[in-house]
Amino acid sequence: MSFSSLAITPQPFLQTKVQFSQSQQQADILVLLVPEKSGELNLTQWSRASRTQINRAIQVAEFTGKSGSKLEIIAPVGLDYGRIVLLGVGEPAKLSRAKAEEIGASLSTHVNATSAKRVHVNSQLISDTALNTSMSTALAHGMELRNYRFDRFKSKPEARPAQQYSWQVADVAASQARYQQLHALAQGVFTARELTNLPGSNGYPEAFANYAHEVLAPLGVKVTILGPEQVKALGMGSLYGVSQGSDKKAHLLIAHWPGAEGQPIALVGKGNTFDTGGYNLKTAAASILRMQTDKAGGAAVVGAIQALAGQQAAVNVVGVVPLSINMISGDAQLPGDVVTAGDGSTIEVGNTDAEGRLILADGIWYAREHLKARAIVDIATLTGAKVGALGSVYSAVFTEHSDIEQTLHQAGELVQERVWRLPLAGYETITKSRIADRINTGSPGAQAGAIFLKHFAGDTPWAHIDMAGDAFSDSAKGIHPEGANGYGVRLLTEWVQLYQQQAN
Ligand code: BES
Ligand code: MN
Ligand code: ZN
Repeated sequence: MSFSSLAITPQPFLQTKVQFSQSQQQADILVLLVPEKSGELNLTQWSRASRTQINRAIQVAEFTGKSGSKLEIIAPVGLDYGRIVLLGVGEPAKLSRAKAEEIGASLSTHVNATSAKRVHVNSQLISDTALNTSMSTALAHGMELRNYRFDRFKSKPEARPAQQYSWQVADVAASQARYQQLHALAQGVFTARELTNLPGSNGYPEAFANYAHEVLAPLGVKVTILGPEQVKALGMGSLYGVSQGSDKKAHLLIAHWPGAEGQPIALVGKGNTFDTGGYNLKTAAASILRMQTDKAGGAAVVGAIQALAGQQAAVNVVGVVPLSINMISGDAQLPGDVVTAGDGSTIEVGNTDAEGRLILADGIWYAREHLKARAIVDIATLTGAKVGALGSVYSAVFTEHSDIEQTLHQAGELVQERVWRLPLAGYETITKSRIADRINTGSPGAQAGAIFLKHFAGDTPWAHIDMAGDAFSDSAKGIHPEGANGYGVRLLTEWVQLYQQQAN
């Protein structure tokens, strides 16, 4: 182990606290959720003088309650608060979950800019009980997602947000139950962000696998880690070859959440812990920088399994993460090499930088052959071509199974991790090799990756998600702080449950 590699162990991410009750609580900040065009607010529990003052502020500031709008006022004398933040939620029945989460995130940044320790959120103007529950919990979820910090490498980290949020809601039990589900989901997102953010020298294959094991095992997930010798012994030469030039050899992580009977749904994530390109070296500084995020697909799979286990979801789901590090040395894979995959087929390595499909080939095959998956979805930061086609607004999905495509699309819209389908038909021959069964390059680039992977799924219903460009942002936005955003965790967690429901 080199001097620079700090021990990477899981740590709690949030210091904020959320609680629900039916009563009003004292606080430094009172947040009042205000539907659009509420007119004069009739807050009967307050004195006439206080009501008059608040309504006057609303009038003068022309605050309408438009969704996402905010008005902060100094609390009238006599109320047990310092400030009052009026938070517009638009027309409650029309407020999407994603928009509510975004408003929650913007509330957290507002609160974080103050020294408030206690925040009380009054939701009494959301009179429909179901809407009151879904909105309150989505707001709390958005607040939590925004308050993650990647600070383990700061010698003196800034204090994390640590406010106490008390929520006055219509139905305490329902709100608590829903919040627990979303809180478990957030924990999965944090794990994915953390794994994705880890520098290449810290988050190498074995470290990634051990981290995942430490997070997942206490939740009842059955974790198996295959080391390099086992990877070789099982014939997974395609996975093995990518890291053969590094001291840090290939691993295969298998994480099984047996929440239901029957064959499992498999999620397979690209866990290339750093991508130098190999001998097809990424020579431009801008192209090699950030390639520690090339494990984001694998991180999303670990996060989704964590979320589903944390939610005690009634699904039989298994995460498979082929782990590699694409490096050069005297032993590294060479352009033009031929490797044999687990299924016995041969692959010409036309480009060592197309390593993602090489490790996924064996991961997908393992899910089909050894885990007998009934459906497989793989997710990967696979191609620059995907970034060129869709940027980071959508990920690309390739599948011949419209039920998978539809449920992925639905899940993506719900959590705003949107997917757009690109075609497979017509591209069948683009990965033909002169000397082996197939080659890991081809044009167009995103389709070549997908067509290559399709072979390894065999007859098992399968979809491929290319999430290149989606995993990382230089600046904070909405529910995401700067850095890795945990893309894919919420998409896959919702998808698994939708797909399972559809099968029932
Ligand atoms: N990890 C990269 C893809 C990538 C590029 C992700 C940019 C995020 C941002 C992948 O391993 C890669 O290098 N793909 C090559 C394949 C090519 C050499 C056939 C690409 O797309 O350029
Ligand atoms: Mn590459
Ligand atoms: Zn890569």
